[in-house]
Amino acid sequence: MIDLTGRSLLSLRDFTKEEILYLLDLSDRLKKEKKEGIYKKRLENKNVALIFEKSSTRTRCSFVVACFDEGAHPEYLNRGDIQLGHKETVEDTARVLGRMFDAIEFRGFSQKHCATLAKHSGVPVINGLTDEEHPIQVLADLMTIRERFGTLGGLKLVFVGDGRNNVANALMIGAAKVGLDFVIASPSERFPDRELVEECTNYAKENNSTIRLDDDAGRAVAGADVVYTDVWVSMGEEGKEHERATLLRPYQVNRELMSCAKETAVFLHCLPAVRGYEVTEEVFESAASLVFDEAENRLHTAKAVLVALLGKGNL
Ligand code: CP
Ligand code: NVA
Repeated sequence: MIDLTGRSLLSLRDFTKEEILYLLDLSDRLKKEKKEGIYKKRLENKNVALIFEKSSTRTRCSFVVACFDEGAHPEYLNRGDIQLGHKETVEDTARVLGRMFDAIEFRGFSQKHCATLAKHSGVPVINGLTDEEHPIQVLADLMTIRERFGTLGGLKLVFVGDGRNNVANALMIGAAKVGLDFVIASPSERFPDRELVEECTNYAKENNSTIRLDDDAGRAVAGADVVYTDVWVSMGEEGKEHERATLLRPYQVNRELMSCAKETAVFLHCLPAVRGYEVTEEVFESAASLVFDEAENRLHTAKAVLVALLGKGNL
């Protein structure tokens, strides 16, 4: 039996395929319960700190609603509210929060800070996006793909655009862990770090799947089941808009690029989207676009993660 009690979720690289599938199964179950109006309050009397150094709609709202649905109290702490890393070390903030809260969600810049919070707080820490990774987004993405296709293994997922951003990194890890064939379509300047690709290639091999990098978007998307993109300029990269728009223009997800994918292919985007840049209005609004199912699934997966890490996943 899988038991994730007390674990942190800093990266999906720390989770086995079975553990990831367990979280997806739990997400499905919690989604069904909510649709049926069943609220089991599995997190009653729990307090969850939500640290946000960067802005957020989906992550913040999904954690707040997940907490309330399960009877927990969420406390939102933004950059101006606390002294994290300035005037107080991350270690000390972690030790204080760990004395008061049962879990911590962290959205910020540094993956190291996220790990430091986990090490020193003594409570589960959930990565709600760093410069390097966005693992809980990927849980919602995998949930959405499985809902549509009924399976994950054997499908081809292509991430098009900025191939070395947090979402691309996390998606590559998640895809490799569950056995999706994964392709990054981006200019070689924006290919992911070689060590990460090697690590993911090893995970993929264990699942008879593949990881590939391609600087030709049309060739990469050929035969895809899922075409995924994200913004060309991530939070913290302000000032790079012009450079990225020039570099990534050939990687826009538009009708022509979607026509290279399978007829049954779907379009995903973690959101927020900048229409007219990484994706056209036409594709974003098309029948193939599952972006709002994907956004909704952020709630069910955030809830599953909280319930599982706080030890109530089997109730
Ligand atoms: N996809 C995602 O994480 O959205 P937010 O930045 O709005 O949280
Ligand atoms: N890559 C984007 C994801 C937003 C959810 C960013 O970091 O801004």
